[in-house]
Amino acid sequence: MDGTRPAGDELLKIAVEVARQAAETARRMRADGVSGVTTKSTATDVVTAADRAVEREAVATLRAARPGDAVLGEEYGGADGTGPTGGAGVRWILDPIDGTVNYLYGLPHYAVSLAAEVDGEVVAGVVRNAVTGDEWTAIRGGGAYRAGQRLRSSTETDLGKALVATGFGYDPARRAHQAGVLAELIPHIRDIRRFGVASIDLCLAAEGSVDAYYEKGLNLWDHAAGGLIATESGLLVDGLAGAGPGPDLVIAAPPALFGPLHDHLDRLDAAGGP
Ligand code: IPD
Repeated sequence: MDGTRPAGDELLKIAVEVARQAAETARRMRADGVSGVTTKSTATDVVTAADRAVEREAVATLRAARPGDAVLGEEYGGADGTGPTGGAGVRWILDPIDGTVNYLYGLPHYAVSLAAEVDGEVVAGVVRNAVTGDEWTAIRGGGAYRAGQRLRSSTETDLGKALVATGFGYDPARRAHQAGVLAELIPHIRDIRRFGVASIDLCLAAEGSVDAYYEKGLNLWDHAAGGLIATESGLLVDGLAGAGPGPDLVIAAPPALFGPLHDHLDRLDAAGGP
């Protein structure tokens, strides 16, 4: 690497190519049936042969395109992702199949999520639904797009009328805490949606198909690309008390809803529990 900071559009071009190839591999493997199912953190946290194969293929393609970059991937990438990032300081953040439970059941709602980070800041991201081909992209400072249309998030100002997406972790004790938070929140919002794919949830918020989204327990590969897409659509994306989006909590909401939603989640200890 020559140490030059690569442009966001250059990285997005690579990200989109890799995500399209990865999505096609995931879709094709699903059509042949699910294989190699094992579990990770709990009995309900599954990983399949496709998660591993898609990640291996995507990492190989990234390595061929940009040999000096680091890659943090959900299935293999921990150590490598914290390693040297070459002269350009680029790290790719990959979820090969976000929504693995949907993949397992054949629900047409799972995605490849790929973000490019430069010197610790996500500058480009793509989320692609592997079944429908719906694709959301963003470049930092350059807006968020789907099928050539610039995304504008919800302009709702009344939390009581907000449709809010969320999700649950795999640990039973965590799920119980999250369900308790939700039971207390739901009287204050229009309704909730649980689609099972954090990266797509963030994109649905970005395009205004839901008004807001929150979840505790996300990993970076779940929210890196979708978080940039949400930000570039006009949403505020943060954790509690300005902590930044992270494993404790990710909240994505239009400016008028962010404060009220944040305050409910704070009061309900949404970032607490196991
Ligand atoms: C999961 C999905 C789900 C969210 C979980 C994630 P995975 O990712 O994004 O919607 O609620 O927190 O772990 O395990 O399917 O890659």
